[in-house]
Order: sequence, then structure tokens, then C-alpha cells
Amino acid sequence: MPLRSILAGCGGYLPERVVTNDELSRTIDTSDEWIRERTGIRQRHFAAKHETAAFMGTAAARVALADAGATAADVDAIILATSTPDQAFPATALRVQAELGVSRGFGFDLSAACAGFIYGLSVADGMIRAGQVRGVLVIGSEVYSRILNWQDRGTCVLFGDGAGAVFLRASSGEDDDRRGVLSTHIHAQGTLGDILYVDGAVGQPDKPGHLVMNGREVFRHAVTRLAEAVEEALAANGLKHGDIDWLVPHQANSRIIQAMGKKLGLPPERVVMTVDRHANTSAASVPLALAEARGDGRIVPGDLVLLEALGGGLTWGSALVRL
Ligand code: UT7
Repeated sequence: MPLRSILAGCGGYLPERVVTNDELSRTIDTSDEWIRERTGIRQRHFAAKHETAAFMGTAAARVALADAGATAADVDAIILATSTPDQAFPATALRVQAELGVSRGFGFDLSAACAGFIYGLSVADGMIRAGQVRGVLVIGSEVYSRILNWQDRGTCVLFGDGAGAVFLRASSGEDDDRRGVLSTHIHAQGTLGDILYVDGAVGQPDKPGHLVMNGREVFRHAVTRLAEAVEEALAANGLKHGDIDWLVPHQANSRIIQAMGKKLGLPPERVVMTVDRHANTSAASVPLALAEARGDGRIVPGDLVLLEALGGGLTWGSALVRL
């Protein structure tokens, strides 16, 4: 039997502090009505000083390992997707490795903005299928509150902080032959780098960097690229729209999420929506949404789940997973 990656556990972490639209509108020229109507967002979580990408990623990873019935000894690799690392180096993944007490294997950070978790899943699945590793933590962890431009009301109301994680386990067992990561597809178009980016980095003098976005352009590309990614995933597996049990999409805007659900012919209750409470947590959004719907018993073992995301780069992709 060929090796495949079983999604054995998932977990999430959200900072304690909740910030409502009304709270933001006290200092920013915006309103609860505008934010809710355009995006579906009602509130977001903002990290305290100690809640860094490593801190939150570690917390989410612990929940994912416990959910999988695994321990630090089962972890061969940690792939952590983030645009807001604790430091330029060591990788945030290695801060997590140390905190978890994982004493072997390897880890690295992955930069693909909001599509980072899908990219991480794709890399981890490839390594498992190649027989290189048996247990991989894939984490998305973000503190976008630290890179928002508070003078730009078009972006600063859209994002939140948090982390999500999954633990993938190699399997060649016949019992598992229907379960696992069935496919991943990842894409990028660097020529669209100027519609969503951070205008600085540690490598640039005096420019820590803030998020800049042409929302309308990103919206336009999101609708078409994500629809293509979904069709690509179905075609690669010989599946039709009606075969999908759940859509767990990137949580940027409820209008984009609803459009994707409609395209797949899924009723709204089969589309996992967290953007109303989490806002856009970038690479953390898909694993956080997955952890929520697994945790509350909506998604159950055997369900066929389609994950998709699009972000700065432009980067986008999809993953089809049978839980
Ligand atoms: O995670 C990566 C993927 N990201 C996405 O997928 C985001 C995609 N884009 C979007 O979700 C939407 O484009 C936004 C939610 C960002 C913006 O919605 P929109 O309907 O495209 O609005 P807009 O940017 O075209 O702005 C419409 C109006 C403008 O006023 P005028 O020029 O029409 O008078 C803005 O100045 O809304 C105004 N506006 C605001 N008003 C109150 C912009 N931001 C705000 C605000 N509060 N926070």
C-alpha cells in the first residue's frame, strides 16, 4: 500500500482579548454596520504582548497532538506558516519545537500569506508520501494586529490574531485507505504582488512594514482563482460538486465564502464560517475553522472536506481531505 497522510488531529488558539466593531469605531472612522455588511465580521481577537506566533502556534499544536492521541515523541517535522514570525530567525517553528519538547527531526517557517496553511499541508503531504517523515505538525499562526496600518480603515478592520494546527500521520494501513489528504494543489502569480503586500521587513532599513491591500482587486481574483482551485481539486479526484460534505474556506469575507458555497451547491450549514468572530487570521484561518467544526462535532470521521485559501503573492490553493 502506498503511504498517505491521515489528518489525525486538529487544534486552535485565540487570544483572550476580543475587540468588537463598535470598539474599533471609537478610534477609527468606521461603523459596525459597514464592517458587517461588507465583510460579515462582528469581532476579532487581538494578541497581548506575550501572545506571539510561537506562543499561539505552540498552544494550537498541543491541542492538535492531544486530539490525535499523539505526543512530542511522534513529531518528525514542524511546518509553520506565518507572515508575522517572532524573529527573522530562528524559525518560529523551532520555537514551537523547543516549547513542545520535540528533540529530533526538523522544522521551518513557510511564507505564503493567507494560503500558507494550504502550502504547508501540501509540503507535509509530499514528504509523508515520499516516506521522509511519519508525523508532521502543520501550523498557521499570525499576529496581524502588529502589522496593520491604523490610519487605513480599508484594511485595519479586517484582520485578527490566532493560530490553528493539524497533526498529520503517515499510514499505509488498509483500514485507512479511504481517509487522508487526497490531493493538494498550490499556485502563485508573483506579478500580482502589488495588490496585497507588507511594505517593509527586517531586511529593509527603518521599515518594519504594514499591510497594504487593493481590496477590490483581491476580491476579483479571489472569486475566480478559488473557483478554479475547487474545480481542479474535484477533477483530480474524479468527484462532482455533490460529493463534498464540507467546505472549510479561508475566512476573509463572508460574501466570498457564500459565493464559493453556492458554486459547490452546498447549503450554508455545510460551509464553515468563522469570519464573523475571528475576522481574517491569514494562515491561521483555515486550520482554526477546521478545528472549530471538528471540535463541536459538525465534521466527523469519514467526511470529505474541501479546504481553500488565497492570499498575498498572489498565492492560492486547495486541499481535499477525508477525515
Ligand atoms: O486574505 C486575503 C484575501 N483578502 C480578501 O479576499 C479581501 C478581498 N476584498 C474584500 O473583502 C473587500 O474588497 C473589502 C471588504 C476589503 C472592501 O469592500 P468593498 O466593497 O470592495 O469596498 P471598497 O474598498 O470599494 O470601499 C467602498 C467604500 C469607500 O468609500 P467611497 O469611496 O465609495 O465613498 C471606502 O472609503 O467604503 C469606504 N470604506 C469604509 N467605510 C467605513 C472603506 N473602508 C471602510 C471602513 N468603514 N472600514
